[in-house]
Amino acid sequence: MKNNTDNCNGKMPSLRTFDFEKNVGGGTAVKCSRPMEKQLGRVSCLDTPCLVLDLDMLEGNLQKMQAVAKHAGKNLRPHAKTHKCSALARLQIEAGAIGVCVAKVSEAERLAKAGLANILITGPVVTQQKLGRLLAVRQTMPSLMLVVDHGDSVDWLSASMQAAGLTMDVLLDVDVGLKRSGVLPSDIPALAERVRSRPNLRLRGIQAYAGHVQHLRPYHERRTDSLQCLQQAVPIFRELKATIPTCDIFSASGTGTFDIDIAVPEVTELQVGSYVCMDTEYRGIGSAVDAAQFTAFAPALRVLTTVVSANHRGFVTVDAGLKSLYRDGGVPQVFAPPDAGLTYDWFGDEYGRITYSDPGAAPALGTVLELIPSHCDPTINLFDRFHLVREDSMIGEWPIDLRGCSQ
Ligand SMILES: Cc1ncc(COP(=O)(O)O)c(C=O)c1O
Repeated sequence: MKNNTDNCNGKMPSLRTFDFEKNVGGGTAVKCSRPMEKQLGRVSCLDTPCLVLDLDMLEGNLQKMQAVAKHAGKNLRPHAKTHKCSALARLQIEAGAIGVCVAKVSEAERLAKAGLANILITGPVVTQQKLGRLLAVRQTMPSLMLVVDHGDSVDWLSASMQAAGLTMDVLLDVDVGLKRSGVLPSDIPALAERVRSRPNLRLRGIQAYAGHVQHLRPYHERRTDSLQCLQQAVPIFRELKATIPTCDIFSASGTGTFDIDIAVPEVTELQVGSYVCMDTEYRGIGSAVDAAQFTAFAPALRVLTTVVSANHRGFVTVDAGLKSLYRDGGVPQVFAPPDAGLTYDWFGDEYGRITYSDPGAAPALGTVLELIPSHCDPTINLFDRFHLVREDSMIGEWPIDLRGCSQ
């Protein structure tokens, strides 16, 4: 296992001792004291709709994934496309990750600006504009890596690096079934040769992301399919590793298959993303121990929403709609109040409908509810900041500084 001292100046606070109250922006913890707004026993001094991160759960999720990776002898390179937050990426690195992944060059730009390093861009770069931006990031970050999936883009990347007198580390993107990007395993030797033959590029290994199996149910099918996907890349990686001394990275996996993929000895690092905050789509995929639920990671991310109209029997209207909750992966779940039989449904751009069957459970006008979003990544991208909460205290906030970085 590599260590991560490049990214945190040699300091590696364990999460157990990491002092959020001192280290996150926002300073002193604020106890919420307005009784009406505390009626659900949760922090709700905040204006709604807003995004909240439960720090106890977040810490637990980080520790758990880090411990699993460590125990399996794998590195962790979490995907920052999930949270789009440089402060959270830094925390993941301080907790032991060797770096982070991003999907787009603009995300790498923001993380570089925030002083982070060891970034892998997991999607292809094919235009001169993007190559120019990539080069600018590379100039400040020698540890930057990029995946490639076409001979032409290899040539363009090589020419761009050569003109600037720089080198670039690359991974070959192996398409193990997702068909979104990447080359088929049978075409990898030719692509590897292309990279090797071009100046200023250094072949570091492969990426094999099986995105299409991450949410597969039941668990045993997910397991079978994920292992089959990865097995397609194993002989290629072995061959590359045996012949190219710099080739030592096999980057793979996601939250849905993390505990499956660690069984593949050749995999060197996990690119998991959603585990850090979770969503209802993932919570419903089932696991090795529970066919219906996947509860290895806690729902640290919640959208707070207020009942703004309660004039009908059977339902109330809340202020979080499509502009606050990305409509993908089912419907959000009501996290608090718990066990009240409340269900969310879409009610237009600005509103949601909360239905109840027990009239005694009807949320009163002004009540603040907590929702678990159905799909975390695009929901986070709708907000400017995370509010950081521990029990009933607000600890501070983190800007979602990679928000909107889709270029
Ligand atoms: C290339 C790549 N790797 C890793 C991930 C992380 O996946 P998850 O959020 O399922 O952990 C994603 C997510 O879409 C991805 O696109």
